[in-house]
Amino acid sequence: MAQKYSFLEYVKTFMTQNLTNRRWVLVDYPDSMPSEDNFDLQVGLDIPPLKEGEVLISADYLSVDPYVRGRISPTVGYTAGVLPGDLLPAGGVGEVIQSQSNMFKAGDIVLSSSFGWQEYAVLNEIEVRKIDAEKIPRQAYLSYLGMPGLTAYFGLVKVGGAKKGETVIISAASGAVGQVAGQIANSIGCKTVAIVSSDEKLEWCKELGYSHGINYKKTANLSSEIQNKCPKGVDVYFDNTGGPINDAVMENLNINARIAVCGVIALADRIGKPDIGPRYWRQILVNRATITGFLVFDFAEEFKKAENYIWNLVEKGNFKFKEDTSDGINTMASAFLDLLHSRNFGKRLIKI
Ligand SMILES: NC(=O)c1ccc[n+]([C@@H]2O[C@H](COP(=O)([O-])OP(=O)(O)OC[C@H]3O[C@@H](n4cnc5c(N)ncnc54)[C@H](OP(=O)(O)O)[C@@H]3O)[C@@H](O)[C@H]2O)c1
Repeated sequence: MAQKYSFLEYVKTFMTQNLTNRRWVLVDYPDSMPSEDNFDLQVGLDIPPLKEGEVLISADYLSVDPYVRGRISPTVGYTAGVLPGDLLPAGGVGEVIQSQSNMFKAGDIVLSSSFGWQEYAVLNEIEVRKIDAEKIPRQAYLSYLGMPGLTAYFGLVKVGGAKKGETVIISAASGAVGQVAGQIANSIGCKTVAIVSSDEKLEWCKELGYSHGINYKKTANLSSEIQNKCPKGVDVYFDNTGGPINDAVMENLNINARIAVCGVIALADRIGKPDIGPRYWRQILVNRATITGFLVFDFAEEFKKAENYIWNLVEKGNFKFKEDTSDGINTMASAFLDLLHSRNFGKRLIKI
């Protein structure tokens, strides 16, 4: 039976015949810190015709995420790595401009974690979800109501088990995950300590409601600074970085401390190589501390609960969130590198 098109779909189908795509691929694996040379922007690519069940989406916003560093390595990770020549991974929100799926029509605003570093994506319907872009700014689905926000919730509540009155310390505290983690910890009634790389970021953390802050780049002795701010010791460490910040927190644990290992961005120059530093087995033993690594997708069945919790904070009116957005697909590689050098201030996004 002939496919029925709405007028809008008909116009957009006609329009796509003139579209070409631009997308970033991996050139080769970085051996240490990645550089622009590891990435290539391909231009003028034809968009393949849709198969049944597929949709063509034009990106509005793409998410720039640190996890890409782990994926551009030959080391085995939690999911398949990116091969040289492959499209780089990113979540995106955008508009369906052509559909061969019964679930979507042209004009739908959608989210996909499989979008990739590109302007247009042809995706299977099972990789795409409709979003409500009337009530909520669409890019929020890539930030506080998306993967980073959910990570903050599960890391703090489920893995860290943060409770009222406890001391919670958060590294990369002004970033996409850190901003939300700090505000959730405040909502639980914790004492919150932010660790960031600049005074400007410290000011922002104060506005978010963090009780204390430390600029680790200006601190001669990070461990004793943490001791000053956390005299009873750290109950929950939300570890977004690993590296020397982790070392300094490990010297300041309270009894029954929980360390939620969320990310290891401080190891971006040595993925797959040994992470050499002090060992803290005695601190873990005497404090009966727990160290737990987690991935947000481990909690997929509870995503709704986390979204509701964060949305509740937003509706109460004092939730704050900073985005750091640049224009155009050509800025994607440099935006990614900014994350690894503390040059972003807030959730890094690309507006297409
Ligand atoms: N486990 C999961 O499922 C999951 C999900 C999402 C994200 N993550 C992880 O969570 C962390 C935060 O991600 P995000 O998206 O919110 O990024 P982000 O915090 O918005 O940006 C990255 C931040 O990392 C900090 N950083 C970079 N290099 C550093 C270094 N050498 N030492 C210390 N800090 C450094 C910088 O903050 P400063 O300016 O303060 O240094 C930078 O702004 C990342 O490690 C990411 O991989 C994990």
